[in-house]
Amino acid sequence: MTEMLPPLSERIALGVFPTPLSPLRRLSEHLGGPSIWIKRDDLSGLALGGNKVRKLEYLLQNALTEGADTLITAGAIQSNHCRQTAAAAASLGLECHLVLGGYAPPLLQGNLLLDSLFGAHLHFAGSKRKGEDIPALAESLIAAGKRPYVVPYGGSNKLGALGFANALVELCRQTQEPFSHIVFASSSGGTHAGLLAAAKWMALPTQILGIRIDKEENNGSPFQQQLLSLSQDVLTDLEPLANLSAEDIVLNEDYLGQGYGVMGEPEQEAISLMASLEGILLDPVYTGRAMAGLLDLVQKGHFSAEDKILFWHTGGAPAIFAYADEWAANRHL
Ligand SMILES: Cc1ncc(COP(=O)(O)O)c(C=O)c1O
Repeated sequence: MTEMLPPLSERIALGVFPTPLSPLRRLSEHLGGPSIWIKRDDLSGLALGGNKVRKLEYLLQNALTEGADTLITAGAIQSNHCRQTAAAAASLGLECHLVLGGYAPPLLQGNLLLDSLFGAHLHFAGSKRKGEDIPALAESLIAAGKRPYVVPYGGSNKLGALGFANALVELCRQTQEPFSHIVFASSSGGTHAGLLAAAKWMALPTQILGIRIDKEENNGSPFQQQLLSLSQDVLTDLEPLANLSAEDIVLNEDYLGQGYGVMGEPEQEAISLMASLEGILLDPVYTGRAMAGLLDLVQKGHFSAEDKILFWHTGGAPAIFAYADEWAANRHL
């Protein structure tokens, strides 16, 4: 089955694939539970890596096909999606506009510093971090003679999610023995939807277990419903008659902490543990929270000793530098 590539759309090469797959030997030993592996999408190449490049390969091919000369997207002030979009735009010679939540800070740090290095135009939108201001911006760019292409929030429409369907095919080519669970940070849903659709398509005996990161909805409808409909859209492209149901969506909402982007004790512990045991960097917003969830589930006995777990590292480490003050304060450095 893994020899058969799904009938995916055209894509433009932006990242470095396949990303490495390796066992987390010291972490598994430390926890004394199931064996844990890691898929290193933090090493996916574009602008310090991350999961968004898989989506952007499909989305930006579509933008070029449509004759766009300008990209617009949105995210939080430390958005990894915006940073990778800005870098991809630079490499393709496209203008890039980022609509960012929050207000212009006195100092550019982390992803925001990189956005500006890649030459992106930064628009600060206050409390509106999900692209609410994009239509007005697109209109003004069109009036100025540009041909803008809107990359959806988090890159999470069907085309973007196809990138993660393809990622699962890539994983299956790297290992004979399937994982019992794939654990990852789920936020705008494209990563989750692509993995779930491809797991169903390939009939893998693997649970696709998203750890929810952001409790706010993206467009009004419940996140589970959005996930189901996006996953179904991807699956329909792979196998027109196949169906997913609500029970296929496995989303753990127990680790939302103090809200989106607030680094708490669990995230700090997870980041420290991975750094000190494995020499691998996680981020305060996504992978730190997802790993904190995984660690807690292992400690609670959620998995059996025979399970083989994959932690899908979705990137995000540049945001660490924007949390330096909080880190120092909390750790009393
Ligand atoms: C580092 C990182 N991990 C995970 C995610 C979540 O991926 P998705 O938006 O596809 O749910 C994001 C999204 O912004 C991210 O930046």
